Order: sequence, then structure tokens, then C-alpha cells
Amino acid sequence: MAQFKSSTCEIPSARNVPAHIAIIMDGNGRWAKKRLLPRVAGHQRGVKSVRSTIRHCNSLGVDYLTLFAFSSENWRRPKDEVSFLMTLFYSSLAREIEQMHKDNLRFRVIGDISPFDSKLVSLIRDAEELTRDNGGLNLTVAANYGGRWDIMQAVKRMLKERPELAESFSENDLSPYLSMSYAPEPDLFIRTGGEQRISNFLLWQLAYTELYFTDTLWPDFDSTALDLAIRSYQARERRFGRTSEQLPAKNA
Ligand code: IPE
Ligand code: IPE
Ligand code: MG
Repeated sequence: MAQFKSSTCEIPSARNVPAHIAIIMDGNGRWAKKRLLPRVAGHQRGVKSVRSTIRHCNSLGVDYLTLFAFSSENWRRPKDEVSFLMTLFYSSLAREIEQMHKDNLRFRVIGDISPFDSKLVSLIRDAEELTRDNGGLNLTVAANYGGRWDIMQAVKRMLKERPELAESFSENDLSPYLSMSYAPEPDLFIRTGGEQRISNFLLWQLAYTELYFTDTLWPDFDSTALDLAIRSYQARERRFGRTSEQLPAKNA
């Protein structure tokens, strides 16, 4: 009863405008350093890019936008930076949630938020509850998220609920337990900041996603930069294992 086609079990349909865009918002620290500012000034400025990216995805008709905000490895950063990021998450969400709700956006967080401050956890849960019936853009923030953690928690929950699967299970048995089971796999992955790696983001879900890397630093990422990424995506041939000749003719 999979809601969406798995790219490895079936051939998903691919639209001209990506249905799901997943972004690693990287380069905040370098943006600040270039301006002789503390790293956290880059994080602060990055919120502006989050806002404009959400707005632009909304107007383009993108259904799902997933943003990597804090990885399970980001705890390794200096304590002050980690606590700044947590405070920034809290204040930005508190400030923006009413407007997001008015814009009919559905907000969700994926990742293990149990180590977060209880005030932040309840703000997140309230925001998810408030927007749960909204039918507009599905905004997911990945916080204390790791792709390996996701697969591990899915296996654990599946076996707890369905111990008979310990013998053998299929991809379709596991996928409902992954944290993004409510969304199709991303069509387009964007990483800003120049690094060309996945950094433990959506490992499972990116199996057939088109990857786009740009040197633009996250605080400089605007709607023009997003359009460039989408144009690059539109020029790709998504074969999902087939040959070029097997593909249906591209609609005009
Ligand atoms: C991304 O920017 C934001 C987070 C990881 C929270 P960085 O802080 O990694 O910026 P750089 O990579 O050091 O420039
Ligand atoms: C990835 O960025 C995580 C987020 C943007 C939240 P990092 O800056 O932490 O990644 P690495 O350490 O350069 O791989
Ligand atoms: Mg970085």
C-alpha cells in the first residue's frame, strides 16, 4: 500500500517542475567569514534564503520542499554555535508559523528531536498540529537528522510492529517506516556552498534523485539561483535504469 512509487520498484512519473526538492543549505559560515563576521551571522542571514525559497517553491507549484537544517553530526560543532542554531530555529519558527499557516503550508520535522530543549520540541509539535490539515506546500525541516539513523529507526520500528519480518522483508515492507514515507522521493537535490557530498542526508530516498551542486553560499541563494537549479534539472534525462531509446517521448 505504498503511497508513492519507489524508484527502484517501479518507474516514477517525472514532471517538468520537480514535485519534491531537497536542499542541503550549506555555506553560512563561509558567507560570514568573507565579511569578517562571526559564523553565526551567516546562520542568521540564511533564514532570509529559507523564506524566499519557500515562497518561490510555493509559486512554482512544488509540492514538497525538504531542508537540511541540522545533521546528526552537527553536535560536533562548538557548543556556542550549536546553541545559537537551536535558538535560531526556535525564534524563526515562532515568528513564521502563523504566516506559514495562512499560506496553507504543512510543516513537519524529521529527525530525532528528543535531545532538543522541551520548549523547542513543543513548539515543533504545535506547529505540526496547527498545519496538519493544510493542503499547500509540504515543508519538511530535517533536524538532528541522519540518513543512517533514518534507516536504522525504520528497521527497528518495523521489526517491533511486525516481528515475523525478521526472517525476510522487502523494500515495500520497510518504506512506510522511513521518516519521509508521506512524500515521493526527491526529484531534485540541491547543495549550496560548493561541497559535493551528501553528508548523511536522505540516503535511502536519494537513490534516483537528480543531484545539483552550486558554489553559491546559502545566504546568497535566491529565487534566480533556484530557477537555475530547476533549469538544470529540466535538461536532465531521467532514465531510472532504462536506455534513452526506451523513454516515452518528452511532452512539449
Ligand atoms: C550550513 O552552513 C548550516 C549548518 C550546517 C547548520 P555551515 O555552517 O556548514 O557553513 P560552512 O560550511 O561552514 O560555510
Ligand atoms: C550538512 O552541512 C548539514 C547541514 C547543512 C545541516 P555540513 O556543513 O555539516 O556538512 P559537512 O560537514 O561539510 O559534510
Ligand atoms: Mg558546512
